[in-house]
Amino acid sequence: MIKLAVVGSSSMDLVVTSAKRPKAGETVLGESFITVPGGKGANQAVAAARLGAEVSMIGCVGDDFYGEIILENLKKNGVNTEYVEPVTGSASGTAHIILSEGDNSIIVVKGANDFITPDYVQKAQKAIEEADIVMVQQEIPEETVEYLAELCKKLQKRLLLNPAPARKLSEDVIQQAAFLTPNEHEFEILFNGRDRAEVLTEHPNKLFITEGKNGVRYFDGHEERVVPSFVVEAVDTTGAGDTFNAAFAVAVAEGKSYDECLIFANRAASISVTKLGAQGGMPVRAEVERGLEA
Ligand code: RIB
Ligand code: NA
Repeated sequence: MIKLAVVGSSSMDLVVTSAKRPKAGETVLGESFITVPGGKGANQAVAAARLGAEVSMIGCVGDDFYGEIILENLKKNGVNTEYVEPVTGSASGTAHIILSEGDNSIIVVKGANDFITPDYVQKAQKAIEEADIVMVQQEIPEETVEYLAELCKKLQKRLLLNPAPARKLSEDVIQQAAFLTPNEHEFEILFNGRDRAEVLTEHPNKLFITEGKNGVRYFDGHEERVVPSFVVEAVDTTGAGDTFNAAFAVAVAEGKSYDECLIFANRAASISVTKLGAQGGMPVRAEVERGLEA
């Protein structure tokens, strides 16, 4: 069984669906409201566990009711929560999500996720040492991502950095990461609007740009390749990127070729969008494999 360590956020997603998205100063009547566990780190941990990986989550929750639900949900999905601690006096992270007009808009309030400091990660070093691949995203402090990138380099661990939400990264971190998986918007910010083809050739088999319906673009050392995504009827695309990253990490750890990893990850992501909620619809392994045979 392959082992992953995920350093990242866990949150409660407060999701409303509404035919119309309100403008500033406007009030509209929505249709439904659900409260479901989310946060990019926890989503990636749950997705990887469902695909059969042994996953340790390194993160923080608040000392509130949401924190209890988040922890319980991680456990229920088979994620090791030994390194997830409640922060006294802090609220859990929350994501305020509007699903409207076929897309989502999200405000994230970091809450306890801000307490995932370099010191905190250091205390969980054992999980990182044992991992085949380490995963991180950007809903945690920037200095923690920097610390982790350096640590992974030192320990010779491959780090999959999913640069979401968008934030600039230092040249060092870009070098230290084994894999970077920005979407097109994140790519623009990360590389200051530089020419995509040029940047891709500078980062062979490392930079994987996710282009939604288009698929995933990367440079394999010889040529630029695009591995197309699967077309499905999307109910909720929240968490699709997390499912993609987790499935990609699992497949890479298993030693598949990059094209195979991307097909596997695209398939997993396409299944995840067919149900409401970031973690709703995240497939178990057999579902992905069935989807690939079809
Ligand atoms: O990537 C999706 C996640 O981003 C949601 O679950 C929400 O928590 C937001 O942070
Ligand atoms: Na979903």
